[in-house]
Amino acid sequence: MADLSNYSSHNKRSRISKGNSYVAVTGFFFISLFLFNGRTLEPSLSIYRYLLLSAGGGLHARLPDVKSDRTNPPPADLSSTESFDSGTDTLTEDDRSSASDRGSDSTSPSPGLPNYPAIHLEVIDDFLVRLSGKRLMLVGDSMNRNQFESILCLLREGLPDKSRMFETHGYRITKGRGYFVFKFMDYNCTVEFVRSHFLVREGVRINGKGDSNPTLSIDKIDKTAGKWKMADILVFNTGHWWTHGKTARGKNYYKEGNFIYPQFDAVEAYRKALTTWANWIKSNAKPSKQLIFYRGYSSAHFRGGDWDSGGTCKGETGPILNRTSLDSYPEKMQIFDEVIRTTQVPAMLLNVTSLTNYRKDGHPSIYGKNTTEQIKASRWKEDCSHWCLPGVPDAWNELIYAELIVQQGLIH
Ligand SMILES: *[C@@H]1O[C@H](CO)[C@@H](O)[C@H](O)[C@H]1NC(C)=O
Ligand SMILES: *[C@@H]1O[C@H](CO)[C@@H](O)[C@H](O)[C@H]1NC(C)=O
Ligand SMILES: *[C@@H]1O[C@H](CO)[C@@H](O)[C@H](O)[C@H]1NC(C)=O
Ligand SMILES: *[C@@H]1O[C@H](CO)[C@@H](O)[C@H](O)[C@H]1NC(C)=O
Repeated sequence: MADLSNYSSHNKRSRISKGNSYVAVTGFFFISLFLFNGRTLEPSLSIYRYLLLSAGGGLHARLPDVKSDRTNPPPADLSSTESFDSGTDTLTEDDRSSASDRGSDSTSPSPGLPNYPAIHLEVIDDFLVRLSGKRLMLVGDSMNRNQFESILCLLREGLPDKSRMFETHGYRITKGRGYFVFKFMDYNCTVEFVRSHFLVREGVRINGKGDSNPTLSIDKIDKTAGKWKMADILVFNTGHWWTHGKTARGKNYYKEGNFIYPQFDAVEAYRKALTTWANWIKSNAKPSKQLIFYRGYSSAHFRGGDWDSGGTCKGETGPILNRTSLDSYPEKMQIFDEVIRTTQVPAMLLNVTSLTNYRKDGHPSIYGKNTTEQIKASRWKEDCSHWCLPGVPDAWNELIYAELIVQQGLIH
């Protein structure tokens, strides 16, 4: 597998020391973005609102320099997703799209708002140095895969030689595969994705007629949990699958022990599943060695229907500006907050729910797939739940970076 003979941490570190003061200044800047509220990181919205307006935001520092108008997409080379494509052609995820695909200008700040400060490549290098020797693992549904792609793109921007980062099995990112390991050779770190829609165990049961039906054991941790133990930094999420078909109906689906409930409430099942997860973390994680995050629910923005019934977010060109028209804090998150309070699980909440709620303009909409094909497919299905990259999930990863600075000290 990995050949570490060319590991060049010495060079990296001497490079970083030159940029130290720069890193210090931007480090303070990042920390200032977030309210540290006990075990919760919540973006400080008064400051962050401005940044939200420059979709690429954050570590995509070059973007705000671009002054493009709404009819002309920004040059393709300004999108790290685009440059990712041209390099290795590894990212082929269909819920990925870029600001330039959208043809709307989500990269330059609105008039009268401060320009997003330029973040140097040294800061990305600092992020990578802080990850040195570590395994960062995102565990969850396709929304976490979206965040996983974001962090790959962010970190890859900092590599002078892009071939020094690759998927260790040679896999391309597709929906069909549930496990990816990207290695950053020069920093001896990996960024991994483990698919686990519910965090608890999916199974099947064979019914009287010999048909197999899916089940969900809300009292058992997911089978992938063995991998979770190997990570140094974990980012969990769940939530989006609890409203779909079988899961929402709850008929002959939820299981505890060997008992399958003929009917069970999905909200109650979700609460039990989160508690199972929290208890597993408490007995298996090593808070002294592992840093554990849970990323809060990410808002969807369907108008006139839901994801499977013709809902749309087409033509949105700006965020919600009026705080009073945001959705209220969702029940799923209220339940999550309750579970972390009662179990005292040593996990930190990335409280991004209302941050994401502002960004009705950040979704792939009809542009999610290969545009030629997607125009056909999207007549009845638009993607208003995942996010374009560069975009909103970059901010979630900046929260992780901010927390690493807090934990490890400003000058690394
Ligand atoms: C790379 O990181 C691993 C931990 O993930 C560590 O055991 C190993 O010693 C590191 N290798 C180098 C060359 O630093
Ligand atoms: C914000 O929205 C609320 C309700 O949607 C409305 O009553 C209020 O006038 C709006 N405020 C502004 C400044 O647009
Ligand atoms: C997360 O943020 C929301 C506001 O956006 C707040 O109501 C909620 O209490 C926060 N959750 C925690 C655990 O701090
Ligand atoms: C998009 O799909 C069309 C039709 O299947 C194909 O000809 C084209 O090469 C695809 N474009 C990309 C960028 O994958």
